[in-house]
Amino acid sequence: MANQHERSQYTVPPMAMHSATTPCVVRAEGVYLYTEDGRKIIDMASGIAVNALGHCHPKVIAAIEKQAHTLIHAGHNVLYYEPYVTLTEKLIEKTGNKYKLYFSNSGAEANEGAMKLAKYYTHRPVIISMKNAFHGRTMATATITTSNAGYRKYYEPMMPSVYFAEYPYLYRTPYQVVDGKCPKEYMTQFDEIFKKIVDPSMVAAIMMEPIQGEGGYVVPPVEWLQYVREICDKHGICLIFDEVQSGFGRTGELYAWQTLGVEPDIFSSAKGIAGGLPLSAVYGKKEIMDHWTAGAHGGTFGGNPVSCAASLAVLEELYEGGVLENVKKMGEVVRAKMRELQAKYPVIGDVRGVGLMNAIEFVNPENKDPDGKLCAAVQAEALKRDLFLLNCGSEHNNIRLIPPLNVTEDVLETVFAILDEAVAAALKG
Ligand SMILES: Cc1ncc(COP(=O)(O)O)c(C=O)c1O
Repeated sequence: MANQHERSQYTVPPMAMHSATTPCVVRAEGVYLYTEDGRKIIDMASGIAVNALGHCHPKVIAAIEKQAHTLIHAGHNVLYYEPYVTLTEKLIEKTGNKYKLYFSNSGAEANEGAMKLAKYYTHRPVIISMKNAFHGRTMATATITTSNAGYRKYYEPMMPSVYFAEYPYLYRTPYQVVDGKCPKEYMTQFDEIFKKIVDPSMVAAIMMEPIQGEGGYVVPPVEWLQYVREICDKHGICLIFDEVQSGFGRTGELYAWQTLGVEPDIFSSAKGIAGGLPLSAVYGKKEIMDHWTAGAHGGTFGGNPVSCAASLAVLEELYEGGVLENVKKMGEVVRAKMRELQAKYPVIGDVRGVGLMNAIEFVNPENKDPDGKLCAAVQAEALKRDLFLLNCGSEHNNIRLIPPLNVTEDVLETVFAILDEAVAAALKG
């Protein structure tokens, strides 16, 4: 019988097809994928940062099973139900009782909600987004996405009144970096934007990923985030963080803004939030959310009871199962191992990350040019050795390591042993 790849050619568009070597998965458990041709593969993608506790975690399964026997759908637009209400209570408590939140289904939908909320609250039209950003695939989120023109091609005209600022990617900055500090140009660009492009009184929000995901796992200097916070305060602009990828324990706290110490006015969450089930949330400071009146936003499936029950199980594991602590510890292990690899292979230009959101950047060591071809070869060699890796960055030249948040040191040892072999093999060609 044809495999899943061959069968898909007849049923899905090229946009949803993968290569012939893509694993055809039949089941998964913990950090392992099991394929239809009998392979057991280490999964360092976690469904693109979704399976927070690994595949099919027993506590997530138990919560889903129990909830499926109790209430599968009610519709939050028309009814109250558990565990929706309980989950809002727990999440608000974990974020310092300053926010209220609203559930949707996907990251893009939460980001749409975040932008709508900022516009609704401020009565202003403009969104300033960042270069190299990824926020989703809907029209509005594609408009503020700049990590790759392919995500926007043929969808013009995009949403109006969107402008872009530079995000500090210090490994590739054209400006001078002194003592690892953020070059001043990343701050002063806002003076220029406000003077020459758009008056700040027209700006509803400055929106960004607090750590860029798709754009290359780029960690900005905290002083820059603090500066943007200040200008938002000065001009009554909402600071929106897209925490779709960086959130729900990935950086060692529930949200990256808690790790980085800069509070947004509005932020989105999705991916790992329900351990594999579709769920997302838009949070807003209470005073902002209290302006969002009935009918101003909504959706049929958001806050599905089964997804909420799964999310409660993940949340319990993060705090009471020691998973957040594990993220901090294993994050150190990953970065130490990445630095060892970097010392061995000059083609590794940069290694960076926070918690368990880490990347290895492949370059031409002569001139630092991104080497996407080498990165693809490393991925292919790793897969031959049963290690599944994703890339990121506009030039596809970074390996992003996104293990489940409860990953063990033993698994990481194996991952890096394979990665070492894969880089050596890719260099041999
Ligand atoms: C930072 C960020 N925002 C938004 C999205 C879009 O999320 P979704 O695919 O669930 O709509 C993603 C997905 O990769 C993301 O990484």
